[in-house]
Amino acid sequence: MNKMSYLNAINIGEIARPASTLDFSGSPGSFPLARYDLAKIRNVIGRDEIRRGPASIWRYWMLLPADNPAAAITMGEGYTPLVELRALGHQHLWLKDEGQNPSGSFKDRGASVGFTRYRELGVTALALNSTGNASAAWALYAARAGIRCVSFLPFDGQESTRKQCSLAGGEIHFVQDWPNVGSLVARECKAHGWLNVSALREPYRIEGKKTLAYEIAEQFDWRLPNAIVFPTGGGQGVLALYKGFQELRELGWITDPDPKLIITQYAGCAPITKAFRENQDKCEPWGAIDILSGGMKSPNPVSGPAILALLRRTRGTAVAVTNEEALAAESEMCRAEGVFICPEVATTLVGVRKAVESGAVAENDRVVLIGTATGLKSLSHVRDPMA
Ligand SMILES: Cc1ncc(COP(=O)(O)O)c(C=O)c1O
Repeated sequence: MNKMSYLNAINIGEIARPASTLDFSGSPGSFPLARYDLAKIRNVIGRDEIRRGPASIWRYWMLLPADNPAAAITMGEGYTPLVELRALGHQHLWLKDEGQNPSGSFKDRGASVGFTRYRELGVTALALNSTGNASAAWALYAARAGIRCVSFLPFDGQESTRKQCSLAGGEIHFVQDWPNVGSLVARECKAHGWLNVSALREPYRIEGKKTLAYEIAEQFDWRLPNAIVFPTGGGQGVLALYKGFQELRELGWITDPDPKLIITQYAGCAPITKAFRENQDKCEPWGAIDILSGGMKSPNPVSGPAILALLRRTRGTAVAVTNEEALAAESEMCRAEGVFICPEVATTLVGVRKAVESGAVAENDRVVLIGTATGLKSLSHVRDPMA
């Protein structure tokens, strides 16, 4: 396959580095991003080329950072359906059902691109901290790539994701002091020579996840919805999504404005939502965490300032959702629509309703809920009507 795509620089703070670097260090609060020569790509390839590609994220190979996309580490991740939701009271509502990915969550997108690129760059061992879903994806794709993968998981995380990691042969360390897990992983990586692929520490997870934006645009025939509701923890998913929209616009493949961004967070760990409500432009570290086990456990997200800026630029909003509200919405979505999503995703239904109440979303807005993972990930939370 032709090498149409390339990474020409990685912006780390002020510094640009070559695509082949594994040095992602930067000034505090910055994070590395891959950049492309979009003007050149625009001249050589059009969006119709996409249709010829596989039914996975690799149909967008020309916008992904692989020297040889034909040798991608892939299990058919991405190309997930937009399921229309007609019985939940909002006129135009869809679920982007990421539960249909190989490991059951949207994290597979980042793992596929990450392992593809890191294998090309000769990486043999890497490590990350994750509340569970990212580690499950990375451990499974590591097995396929033949790369050693070490996960740092919360001691009280989910059994499903822990078992996905261990069955795939991933190494696991359980962590008690979750708010300081980032510095623990950084220290361990330095001591053992592992590459740190924790969220926003490296550029390629974002590159995989930005394909969510490409797919949403393609599925709506290159138009965009009015609003997107994203369950948010570390914020990497949101940043990736809007990076994807920006690239499509620079390519001239879309012209619609960015959708309003609605983020949802659990009320028991909502640093970005609190900062948004208080009109701050950065977050304070969150104190005591009280949320359901699973994703969205990010008390001090480095993405805070960037997401707050996105919320304001797109005239979106941030919604805090209680554990109880999430569980009730999970049951409602299953009963009314037959979709079996996890409580993190259920926060998005509460989110869109609260956003309509506050006027941030109009009743006839076309809204997409990002269904980041399947309900099978968190069976222990499911309310059993037979019990
Ligand atoms: C199911 C689920 N939804 C949402 C999120 C939040 O994603 P992000 O950390 O990119 O904001 C996570 C991350 O842990 C997750 O596992």
